[in-house]
Amino acid sequence: MAMAEFLGRQLYEEGKSGPVDLIPLLRLMLIPIMSGFVGIDDMDNAQRSARLRQLIEHFNAGSSLLQYATTDRDALVRAALDAIDTYTTEFFESSRQRRARLVERVRAGELSESDLPRDVLTRQLLDTNALWDEPTAIRDSMILLTGGLHTTAVATAQVLDAYYGWRERSENDVDDIELMHAVVNETLRVFPIVEFVPRCAKEDTILNSGKEIAAGTHLVVNIFLANRDPAAFGADADTYRPGRYRELTTSVQHYGLAFGAGPHLCIGKPLVALGRADAQEMSVPRIIVKVVSWLLRAGIHPAPQQEPDQEQTYRRMLASYPVQVPQGAPAGASAIPRSD
Ligand code: HEM
Repeated sequence: MAMAEFLGRQLYEEGKSGPVDLIPLLRLMLIPIMSGFVGIDDMDNAQRSARLRQLIEHFNAGSSLLQYATTDRDALVRAALDAIDTYTTEFFESSRQRRARLVERVRAGELSESDLPRDVLTRQLLDTNALWDEPTAIRDSMILLTGGLHTTAVATAQVLDAYYGWRERSENDVDDIELMHAVVNETLRVFPIVEFVPRCAKEDTILNSGKEIAAGTHLVVNIFLANRDPAAFGADADTYRPGRYRELTTSVQHYGLAFGAGPHLCIGKPLVALGRADAQEMSVPRIIVKVVSWLLRAGIHPAPQQEPDQEQTYRRMLASYPVQVPQGAPAGASAIPRSD
């Protein structure tokens, strides 16, 4: 199903009776896209999507979010383990078995590799090094679904919020694709969705500041502060100013460290954002810029009398984002190309 079709239908349906929380709708919209990337079948079914979303949320709460949790951690871990068992039987096994059969047919010469689905599960099955046993493949696929869904949905709402809070915005901004990419990047820089990433020093190191770090030391990289470093982003680095990208040196990504760096750099980054306003790369679809452009064209704006909620954890993260939907047909619904 096309992203715009889905989002438009849900927003206009739910928006008839008042403000709508955008974040759950974005997550639902993203499920078929992320599932297609991973290789989970039959996700055009709304009930199945909603079920998978629920399992992903339990898994997320009891795994990657655990470090920020303020409630009973053991209960969160138990719920995450149950979620992964259910995911395995209801979603993973049949999708992987179907791909395993197709890969066998390629090996038997009945099909060519180009007939295979282009997704992570298939790539893993084709890999003759067999690094991925079944438990690893299950865990990896759930991590991919979780890592991509929550971050992208919240980032999209965050971009909309930052844009509407930007004093210099004007009506025609949405027609300027370079500016829209800059809006996405500047939001991810100033309000990073992931604020910290953990690291462990492999060898004795001396940082640029002169601080000595012994091998084996566990560290936390503070993305929030790094992204506001005046040495990299200018004296007004704390300020949200999308036009800043024109002044930046080529050594920094416009979104700073929002997707991390090094060998663990976010693998979903090319799906969701464009690091630099580089005309050659512009043709690659990026989910956030497409969805935000569509929302702006459709006249979706923050609900005037309803504040967004923040997540009840130790990090800054939107938990809800109420929007007002104009009455009438979903204008500009065709502005987002099909995602499938
Ligand atoms: C706006 C959206 C997103 C943000 C802000 C984000 C941010 C991040 C960050 C900060 C890291 C840690 C990188 C590091 O340690 O250096 C990361 C890792 C990761 N992300 Fe994303 N991400 C996003 C979307 C996605 C999507 C769409 C996917 C999957 C399709 C994804 C999958 C992953 C995975 C698998 C890792 C772990 C990589 C590794 O440790 O090797 N992310 N992401």
